[in-house]
Amino acid sequence: MESWMWCFLLCSHLLILYFSPSHSLCHPHDTSALLHFKNSSIIDEDPYYYSKTRTWENGTDCCSWAGVTCHPISGHVTELDLSCSGIVGYIDPNRKIPFLESLHLSNNKLKGRVPNWLHEASSWLSELDLSHNQLMQSLDQFSWNQQLRYLDLSFNSITGGFSSSICNASAIQILNLSHNKLTGTIPQCLANSSSLQVLDLQLNKLHGTLPSTFAKDCRLRTLDLNGNQLLEGFLPESLSNCNDLEVLDLGNNQIKDVFPHWLQTLPELKVLVLRANKLYGPIEGSKTKHGFPSLVIFDVSSNNFSGPIPNAYIKNFQAMKKIVVLDTDRQYMKVPSNVSEYADSVTITSKAITMTMDRIRKDFVSIDLSQNRFEGKIPSVIGELHSLRGLNLSHNRLRGPIPNSMGNLTNLESLDLSSNMLTGRIPTGLTNLNFLEVLNLSNNHFVGEIPQGKQFSTFSNDSYEGNLGLCGLPLTTECSKDPKQHSPASLTFRGEQGFGFGWKPVAIGYGCGMVFGVGMGCCVLLIGKPQWIVRMVGGQLNKKVKRKTRMRSNENGSRMN
Ligand SMILES: *[C@@H]1O[C@H](CO)[C@@H](O)[C@H](O)[C@H]1NC(C)=O
Ligand SMILES: *[C@@H]1O[C@H](CO)[C@@H](O)[C@H](O)[C@H]1NC(C)=O
Ligand SMILES: *[C@@H]1O[C@H](CO)[C@@H](O)[C@H](O)[C@H]1NC(C)=O
Ligand SMILES: *[C@@H]1O[C@H](CO)[C@@H](O)[C@H](O)[C@H]1NC(C)=O
Ligand SMILES: *[C@@H]1O[C@H](CO)[C@@H](O)[C@H](O)[C@H]1NC(C)=O
Ligand SMILES: *[C@@H]1O[C@H](CO)[C@@H](O)[C@H](O)[C@H]1NC(C)=O
Ligand SMILES: *[C@@H]1O[C@H](CO)[C@@H](O)[C@H](O)[C@H]1NC(C)=O
Ligand SMILES: *[C@@H]1O[C@H](CO)[C@@H](O)[C@H](O)[C@H]1NC(C)=O
Ligand SMILES: *[C@@H]1O[C@H](CO)[C@@H](O)[C@H](O)[C@H]1NC(C)=O
Ligand SMILES: *[C@@H]1O[C@H](CO)[C@@H](O)[C@H](O)[C@H]1NC(C)=O
Ligand SMILES: *[C@@H]1O[C@H](CO)[C@@H](O)[C@H](O)[C@H]1NC(C)=O
Repeated sequence: MESWMWCFLLCSHLLILYFSPSHSLCHPHDTSALLHFKNSSIIDEDPYYYSKTRTWENGTDCCSWAGVTCHPISGHVTELDLSCSGIVGYIDPNRKIPFLESLHLSNNKLKGRVPNWLHEASSWLSELDLSHNQLMQSLDQFSWNQQLRYLDLSFNSITGGFSSSICNASAIQILNLSHNKLTGTIPQCLANSSSLQVLDLQLNKLHGTLPSTFAKDCRLRTLDLNGNQLLEGFLPESLSNCNDLEVLDLGNNQIKDVFPHWLQTLPELKVLVLRANKLYGPIEGSKTKHGFPSLVIFDVSSNNFSGPIPNAYIKNFQAMKKIVVLDTDRQYMKVPSNVSEYADSVTITSKAITMTMDRIRKDFVSIDLSQNRFEGKIPSVIGELHSLRGLNLSHNRLRGPIPNSMGNLTNLESLDLSSNMLTGRIPTGLTNLNFLEVLNLSNNHFVGEIPQGKQFSTFSNDSYEGNLGLCGLPLTTECSKDPKQHSPASLTFRGEQGFGFGWKPVAIGYGCGMVFGVGMGCCVLLIGKPQWIVRMVGGQLNKKVKRKTRMRSNENGSRMN
């Protein structure tokens, strides 16, 4: 009954919209402006691209053309989405569509300087997406207007620094300048903004310190400065004003400070990446109270942290204790935004592969404390983080045994404890970690027989190298006692659920606008090549991992036969 009513209401609404006199056809002025635009744009004829302008014909309603969106009442063209259209450039810069608010030209082949007409357009547009082109110019060549809400220039070759004119974009909500060649420092006015929700400057060449003061009413959800290499100085404590902050990625810079314990109060913080900086000192301190309730990715690897594994924080990682059951529509963390669908990306190392997730899966849970100077025991409370998929404690100075409680981490897919000073036997409980795909216990002081069977029959001897006291298969050292009868291998497979397989959907739903709703691989998808957007940023795909995965899927296949 209710759904019937809804359907009726919706249908009648649509009919009214359609037949009402206000649903006028495209304005003649807009039609000719668009046709002129089509005529003057230079299109790459490579069939790889599908130019939306091909369908634009005089005599038809321009509001029905591919990539064109009109205002439902006035009929003016308000949005133009010509992403993935093979546009190389323009002959004639004179055109104007007076009511245009939103222009998407991502994934084209625009080269060099932004054409003049676009420079002009940037003075009145509120959304502009020029990402994934080959633009090479400085930010000064854009007009920063007060209605600009969304600007994506990521994946170009934009050079130079910020000038103060960017401070004129006082309403900006999403600013993505990632993957360019920007130099200079980050202007303070961006941190002062109370409209900015996403600031993505990753993989540029910025230097200097972080802005010192974030606004009291800071609305940032994502701050990504990863991979600038030269950002230095302290972490500004006023970042804790940003109550909506979900993603903070400052990895691969030169920040020199102690652990920012003041971030623990942020209720939404899900991703904290501080890897490869010069952070030092203990993580845990007297200020540790009830920290980081929403955190699911905690990556502080390759710093100079010392002291114990931060027990008190781990105890309070509430979000890592809950197993998230994914609803297929809502698999990814998203910056809820009325500007456009938007995604965060994060680069992490897992299963010895460095990869960039274009979207962060909500159920991806990992802790990486590797390459620091942590010492002491592995706290047994770690076994309570039931949703953990990746745990890397390698290259530290940890002692003592592996706590038995780790056998409770039943979602674990990757466990690296290598290069520590761990002792004792390997708990047999670990053989129950059915999804464990990568295990590295190398370079420790483990002793006794390697537990046999179940998941452990998938690991080869390189998981155990450098432990003189270990014996039994897959090592060649036999145990001195009679080896126990080995239990037959019974393997369980996670198949498509594992994060190793979770990369495939990253392309879906991103970037190329509403018409196709598919991602930066959209050009590829259009010609029917499915694509795993797993970019190797550093490191190489570990062949062993590959082989292991293949072996497991073969076994899976034969089990099913
Ligand atoms: C479109 O067609 C109309 C008449 O059919 C003509 O007046 C107009 O010049 C044409 N516009 C373009 C841009 O070709
Ligand atoms: C298209 O461009 C050619 C020259 O490149 C010009 O002669 C022709 O009039 C243009 N047509 C329209 C509809 O603008
Ligand atoms: C910024 O805005 C001020 C005042 O609104 C204006 O005078 C100035 O020219 C603008 N700067 C740029 C670079 O647009
Ligand atoms: C940032 O805000 C502070 C105080 O809220 C103000 O003193 C400062 O001038 C602002 N800086 C910029 C660059 O807008
Ligand atoms: C790490 O910290 C120790 C002192 O705590 C210092 O001696 C050492 O030089 C630091 N290492 C690096 C790489 O900064
Ligand atoms: C976007 O959403 C905010 C509140 O979430 C609202 O205040 C604002 O007016 C919206 N903007 C547009 C253009 O819809
Ligand atoms: C910025 O754009 C890049 C590429 O278009 C994308 O991978 C990244 O996720 C965007 N940043 C954010 C915070 O959404
Ligand atoms: C663990 O961290 C180390 C050092 O940061 C890295 O080399 C290794 O590949 C990581 N292990 C896994 C399984 O990702
Ligand atoms: C594993 O979890 C169960 C239930 O949460 C608990 O009773 C048990 O003590 C845990 N095992 C270890 C070794 O901590
Ligand atoms: C285990 O870690 C060590 C470094 O501690 C590394 O050399 C080795 O390649 C790793 N083995 C596997 C199987 O990943
Ligand atoms: C590890 O196994 C390979 C063959 O799989 C063998 O050649 C090698 O000697 C073994 N190494 C050790 C330390 O057992």
